[in-house]
Amino acid sequence: MLSRIRSDIQCILERDPAARSTWEVLTCYPGLHAVILHRLAHACWTHGLKWLGRFVSHITRFLTGIEIHPGATIGNRVFFDHAMGVVVGETAEIGDDCTIYQGVTLGGTSLYKGAKRHPTLGRGVVVGAGAQVLGGFTVGDGAKVGSNAVVTKPVPAGATAVGNPARIIQAELDVKREEAASKMGFSAYGVTQSDDPLSQAMRGLIDNASSHEHQIAMLWKAIDTLQASRDKTNCVPGDATLAEHFEADKLNQLVGK
Ligand SMILES: CC(C)(COP(=O)(O)OP(=O)(O)OC[C@H]1O[C@@H](n2cnc3c(N)ncnc32)[C@H](O)[C@@H]1OP(=O)(O)O)[C@@H](O)C(=O)NCCC(=O)NCCS
Repeated sequence: MLSRIRSDIQCILERDPAARSTWEVLTCYPGLHAVILHRLAHACWTHGLKWLGRFVSHITRFLTGIEIHPGATIGNRVFFDHAMGVVVGETAEIGDDCTIYQGVTLGGTSLYKGAKRHPTLGRGVVVGAGAQVLGGFTVGDGAKVGSNAVVTKPVPAGATAVGNPARIIQAELDVKREEAASKMGFSAYGVTQSDDPLSQAMRGLIDNASSHEHQIAMLWKAIDTLQASRDKTNCVPGDATLAEHFEADKLNQLVGK
């Protein structure tokens, strides 16, 4: 119990640059008080003392401005920063190391009793101020929800969801990167191909260099022909293209084509 409170305090000192001392965190952080009191409310709830659980939760809301249903499951080192106006629903689950700012709702969109109506946050999720996460889906580990986002669909691990309705900005970035990479002649990730993405990238570069060499050779040939028809003399650069031939097939074999 005490060691859990100690780790709660430590995580606040680590995540809030404004926090200056253990004493300050212990006495002035409603997010910490809400988490400690929720453990009491949750224990009452799970031991069949439903009314008492609700009452402790109600008192906590009065004292801290944070409303956590006693049935909600909250992991270790969860930090409600500022946290006034936060609502956490009955079937919500919050993983270890999550950070939740003021005005956040982890709410439901259906009225079925007993069903999983509220979201599950994975480990290390950050939910920005004013965000509304509504429904019984999962926000994956390490995901970020932007301030004021309205999220009604699952968020993949590590992704960032912003806007109303929320869109995943990580996925958009990946698409842009993939487009740019394919213009250069290879796939940046290569995960849809069956072999090593690094050798695919190498092969793309080799093919690209080979095609450039082919175009340069054709240009030299054209210059050569022009020169020959003008003064009937040999062109030295034309010889150079023959001497320094780029062996694409040989190099491709080296990287495993
Ligand atoms: C969502 C968030 C985590 C994204 O941070 P990030 O990964 O550094 O992303 P960026 O700042 O690079 O922004 C990426 C894009 O998302 C947009 N974006 C970021 N936050 C947004 C938000 N809350 N709503 C809408 N769009 C947002 C940016 O404008 C940018 O768009 P662009 O690519 O078209 O320019 C951050 O903006 C956020 O909202 N954090 C919550 C902070 C908070 O609530 N603090 C309260 C302190 S009291």
